Amino acid sequence: MNNDSSTSNHLFDTASLPFSQACENNKQPILEILQQELQGFNHVLEVGSGTGQHSVYLAPRLGHLTWQTSDVLAHHATINAWHAAYPAPNLYAPLTFDVSHDSVPTNKAVAAPYDAVFTANTLHIMSWSLVEKLFELVGEALSINGKLIVYGPFNENGHYISVGNQQFDISLQQHDPKSGIRHLEDIIALAKTHHLRLSDRYAMPANNQLLVFQKH
Ligand SMILES: C[S@@+](CC[C@H](N)C(=O)[O-])C[C@H]1O[C@@H](n2cnc3c(N)ncnc32)[C@H](O)[C@@H]1O
Repeated sequence: MNNDSSTSNHLFDTASLPFSQACENNKQPILEILQQELQGFNHVLEVGSGTGQHSVYLAPRLGHLTWQTSDVLAHHATINAWHAAYPAPNLYAPLTFDVSHDSVPTNKAVAAPYDAVFTANTLHIMSWSLVEKLFELVGEALSINGKLIVYGPFNENGHYISVGNQQFDISLQQHDPKSGIRHLEDIIALAKTHHLRLSDRYAMPANNQLLVFQKH
Protein backbone atom coordinates (compact mmCIF):
# COMPACT_ATOMS: atom_id res chain seq x y z
CA MET A 1 0.00 0.00 0.00
CA ASN A 2 1.08 3.48 -0.69
CA ASN A 3 1.35 6.18 1.93
CA ASP A 4 1.71 9.92 2.07
CA SER A 5 4.35 10.24 4.75
CA SER A 6 6.98 12.09 2.67
CA THR A 7 5.62 15.54 3.37
CA SER A 8 2.38 16.89 4.74
CA ASN A 9 1.60 19.18 1.80
CA HIS A 10 1.32 16.74 -1.10
CA LEU A 11 -0.87 17.94 -3.93
CA PHE A 12 -1.98 14.70 -5.58
CA ASP A 13 -2.88 11.26 -4.42
CA THR A 14 0.10 8.97 -5.00
CA ALA A 15 -1.80 5.75 -4.19
CA SER A 16 -1.93 4.68 -7.83
CA LEU A 17 1.75 5.36 -8.55
CA PRO A 18 4.53 2.78 -8.64
CA PHE A 19 5.82 2.55 -5.08
CA SER A 20 8.91 1.14 -3.38
CA GLN A 21 8.55 0.08 0.26
CA ALA A 22 12.36 -0.17 0.48
CA CYS A 23 12.61 3.55 -0.33
CA GLU A 24 10.19 4.36 2.45
CA ASN A 25 12.25 2.27 4.87
CA ASN A 26 15.67 3.67 3.96
CA LYS A 27 14.97 7.31 3.07
CA GLN A 28 15.35 8.71 6.60
CA PRO A 29 18.62 6.85 7.40
CA ILE A 30 19.98 7.97 4.01
CA LEU A 31 18.92 11.57 4.70
CA GLU A 32 20.75 11.61 8.03
CA ILE A 33 24.04 10.68 6.32
CA LEU A 34 23.53 13.02 3.36
CA GLN A 35 22.92 15.92 5.76
CA GLN A 36 26.47 15.39 7.03
CA GLU A 37 28.18 14.35 3.81
CA LEU A 38 26.63 17.02 1.57
CA GLN A 39 27.18 20.05 3.79
CA GLY A 40 28.63 22.75 1.56
CA PHE A 41 27.72 20.90 -1.65
CA ASN A 42 25.61 22.59 -4.30
CA HIS A 43 24.45 20.35 -7.13
CA VAL A 44 23.56 16.66 -6.85
CA LEU A 45 22.84 14.33 -9.75
CA GLU A 46 20.84 11.26 -8.78
CA VAL A 47 21.44 8.30 -11.10
CA GLY A 48 18.67 5.71 -11.43
CA SER A 49 16.01 7.70 -9.57
CA GLY A 50 13.55 4.81 -9.96
CA THR A 51 10.12 5.85 -8.70
CA GLY A 52 11.40 9.26 -7.59
CA GLN A 53 10.50 8.62 -3.94
CA HIS A 54 14.03 9.27 -2.69
CA SER A 55 14.17 12.57 -4.55
CA VAL A 56 10.88 13.92 -3.19
CA TYR A 57 11.95 13.10 0.35
CA LEU A 58 15.58 14.14 0.19
CA ALA A 59 15.50 17.31 -1.92
CA PRO A 60 13.30 19.46 0.37
CA ARG A 61 15.31 18.34 3.39
CA LEU A 62 18.57 19.31 1.70
CA GLY A 63 17.37 22.75 0.73
CA HIS A 64 20.87 24.22 0.38
CA LEU A 65 21.48 22.24 -2.84
CA THR A 66 19.76 21.33 -6.11
CA TRP A 67 18.66 17.73 -6.69
CA GLN A 68 18.70 16.62 -10.32
CA THR A 69 16.95 13.31 -10.95
CA SER A 70 17.80 11.04 -13.88
CA ASP A 71 16.96 7.60 -15.20
CA VAL A 72 16.25 5.74 -18.39
CA LEU A 73 13.28 7.24 -20.21
CA ALA A 74 10.86 4.50 -19.15
CA HIS A 75 10.93 5.78 -15.55
CA HIS A 76 10.33 9.45 -16.28
CA ALA A 77 6.53 9.41 -16.15
CA THR A 78 6.57 7.92 -12.67
CA ILE A 79 9.26 10.28 -11.40
CA ASN A 80 7.36 13.26 -12.83
CA ALA A 81 4.14 12.08 -11.16
CA TRP A 82 5.86 11.82 -7.75
CA HIS A 83 7.35 15.28 -8.32
CA ALA A 84 3.89 16.65 -9.15
CA ALA A 85 2.61 15.24 -5.87
CA TYR A 86 5.54 16.55 -3.83
CA PRO A 87 7.07 19.53 -5.63
CA ALA A 88 10.09 21.32 -4.20
CA PRO A 89 11.89 24.35 -5.61
CA ASN A 90 15.27 22.59 -5.61
CA LEU A 91 13.97 19.34 -7.18
CA TYR A 92 14.47 18.96 -10.93
CA ALA A 93 12.54 16.83 -13.42
CA PRO A 94 14.38 13.76 -14.64
CA LEU A 95 17.02 13.92 -17.32
CA THR A 96 17.55 10.91 -19.54
CA PHE A 97 20.63 9.03 -18.46
CA ASP A 98 21.21 5.49 -19.66
CA VAL A 99 24.71 4.56 -18.58
CA SER A 100 25.03 2.19 -21.53
CA HIS A 101 24.97 4.92 -24.17
CA ASP A 102 24.68 8.41 -22.69
CA SER A 103 27.22 10.73 -21.15
CA VAL A 104 26.41 12.38 -17.82
CA PRO A 105 23.49 14.74 -18.56
CA THR A 106 23.48 18.41 -17.70
CA ASN A 107 20.62 20.73 -16.84
CA LYS A 108 21.11 23.94 -18.76
CA ALA A 109 19.01 25.83 -16.20
CA VAL A 110 21.56 25.01 -13.51
CA ALA A 111 24.60 25.65 -15.72
CA ALA A 112 27.06 24.47 -13.09
CA PRO A 113 28.92 21.19 -12.70
CA TYR A 114 27.64 18.57 -10.28
CA ASP A 115 29.71 18.36 -7.14
CA ALA A 116 27.97 15.18 -5.99
CA VAL A 117 26.35 12.11 -7.50
CA PHE A 118 23.96 9.89 -5.53
CA THR A 119 22.80 6.48 -6.64
CA ALA A 120 20.80 3.88 -4.70
CA ASN A 121 20.28 0.23 -5.49
CA THR A 122 21.65 0.44 -9.00
CA LEU A 123 25.02 -1.37 -8.97
CA HIS A 124 23.43 -4.79 -8.43
CA ILE A 125 20.91 -4.13 -11.21
CA MET A 126 23.46 -3.08 -13.83
CA SER A 127 25.88 -5.55 -15.43
CA TRP A 128 29.50 -5.24 -14.27
CA SER A 129 30.45 -3.54 -17.56
CA LEU A 130 27.75 -0.91 -16.90
CA VAL A 131 29.02 -0.43 -13.35
CA GLU A 132 32.48 0.19 -14.85
CA LYS A 133 30.98 2.67 -17.29
CA LEU A 134 29.10 4.47 -14.52
CA PHE A 135 32.28 4.99 -12.48
CA GLU A 136 34.15 6.14 -15.58
CA LEU A 137 31.46 8.71 -16.46
CA VAL A 138 31.02 9.93 -12.89
CA GLY A 139 34.78 10.11 -12.36
CA GLU A 140 35.04 12.35 -15.43
CA ALA A 141 32.04 14.52 -14.54
CA LEU A 142 32.80 15.29 -10.91
CA SER A 143 34.93 18.21 -9.92
CA ILE A 144 37.93 17.73 -7.58
CA ASN A 145 36.63 16.97 -4.04
CA GLY A 146 33.27 16.02 -5.57
CA LYS A 147 31.54 13.02 -4.00
CA LEU A 148 29.99 9.86 -5.38
CA ILE A 149 27.60 8.38 -2.81
CA VAL A 150 26.38 4.84 -3.40
CA TYR A 151 23.69 3.02 -1.42
CA GLY A 152 23.04 -0.69 -1.66
CA PRO A 153 24.04 -4.20 -0.60
CA PHE A 154 27.68 -5.32 -0.96
CA ASN A 155 29.64 -8.49 -0.30
CA GLU A 156 32.72 -8.31 1.88
CA ASN A 157 35.87 -10.48 1.84
CA GLY A 158 34.28 -12.62 -0.86
CA HIS A 159 31.22 -13.42 1.27
CA TYR A 160 27.61 -12.36 1.63
CA ILE A 161 27.15 -10.38 4.81
CA SER A 162 23.72 -11.92 5.50
CA VAL A 163 21.49 -14.77 4.47
CA GLY A 164 18.99 -12.20 3.21
CA ASN A 165 21.61 -10.75 0.86
CA GLN A 166 22.45 -14.25 -0.40
CA GLN A 167 18.80 -14.96 -1.16
CA PHE A 168 18.43 -11.58 -2.84
CA ASP A 169 21.51 -12.22 -5.00
CA ILE A 170 20.19 -15.59 -6.12
CA SER A 171 16.87 -14.03 -7.12
CA LEU A 172 18.65 -11.21 -8.98
CA GLN A 173 20.75 -13.63 -10.98
CA GLN A 174 17.78 -15.86 -11.79
CA HIS A 175 16.16 -12.80 -13.31
CA ASP A 176 19.32 -11.49 -15.04
CA PRO A 177 22.59 -13.44 -14.84
CA LYS A 178 24.59 -10.24 -15.40
CA SER A 179 23.10 -8.58 -12.33
CA GLY A 180 24.08 -9.37 -8.74
CA ILE A 181 25.44 -8.00 -5.50
CA ARG A 182 28.89 -6.48 -6.06
CA HIS A 183 32.01 -7.08 -3.99
CA LEU A 184 33.00 -4.08 -1.93
CA GLU A 185 36.68 -4.62 -2.76
CA ASP A 186 35.95 -4.62 -6.52
CA ILE A 187 34.00 -1.37 -6.23
CA ILE A 188 36.76 0.32 -4.21
CA ALA A 189 39.39 -0.83 -6.74
CA LEU A 190 37.26 0.35 -9.67
CA ALA A 191 36.68 3.72 -8.02
CA LYS A 192 40.42 4.17 -7.50
CA THR A 193 41.07 3.86 -11.22
CA HIS A 194 38.82 6.90 -11.71
CA HIS A 195 40.41 9.02 -8.96
CA LEU A 196 37.62 8.28 -6.51
CA ARG A 197 38.82 7.36 -3.01
CA LEU A 198 36.57 5.74 -0.40
CA SER A 199 36.27 8.40 2.30
CA ASP A 200 33.43 7.00 4.43
CA ARG A 201 31.39 3.85 4.77
CA TYR A 202 28.18 3.50 6.76
CA ALA A 203 26.25 0.40 7.80
CA MET A 204 22.60 0.89 6.87
CA PRO A 205 19.34 -0.92 7.65
CA ALA A 206 18.61 -4.32 6.11
CA ASN A 207 22.30 -5.15 5.55
CA ASN A 208 22.86 -2.34 3.10
CA GLN A 209 25.76 0.10 3.10
CA LEU A 210 26.33 3.65 2.06
CA LEU A 211 29.71 4.27 0.43
CA VAL A 212 31.14 7.75 0.00
CA PHE A 213 33.87 8.29 -2.57
CA GLN A 214 35.67 11.59 -2.99
CA LYS A 215 37.46 12.68 -6.15
CA HIS A 216 41.10 13.66 -5.82
C1 LIG B 1 16.30 -1.17 -8.22
S1 LIG B 1 16.05 0.32 -9.06
C2 LIG B 1 16.50 1.50 -7.83
C3 LIG B 1 15.70 2.74 -7.93
C4 LIG B 1 15.90 3.75 -6.80
N1 LIG B 1 17.18 4.36 -6.86
C5 LIG B 1 15.67 3.08 -5.45
O1 LIG B 1 16.59 3.03 -4.64
O2 LIG B 1 14.55 2.61 -5.24
C6 LIG B 1 17.37 0.39 -10.22
C7 LIG B 1 17.37 1.63 -11.06
O3 LIG B 1 18.52 1.60 -11.91
C8 LIG B 1 18.13 2.10 -13.16
N2 LIG B 1 19.02 1.61 -14.22
C9 LIG B 1 19.17 0.34 -14.63
N3 LIG B 1 20.00 0.29 -15.69
C10 LIG B 1 20.38 1.56 -15.94
C11 LIG B 1 21.21 2.16 -16.91
N4 LIG B 1 21.80 1.43 -17.87
N5 LIG B 1 21.39 3.50 -16.87
C12 LIG B 1 20.78 4.25 -15.92
N6 LIG B 1 19.96 3.73 -14.98
C13 LIG B 1 19.76 2.41 -15.00
C14 LIG B 1 16.73 1.56 -13.34
O4 LIG B 1 16.03 2.22 -14.37
C15 LIG B 1 16.15 1.76 -11.95
O5 LIG B 1 15.58 3.02 -11.79
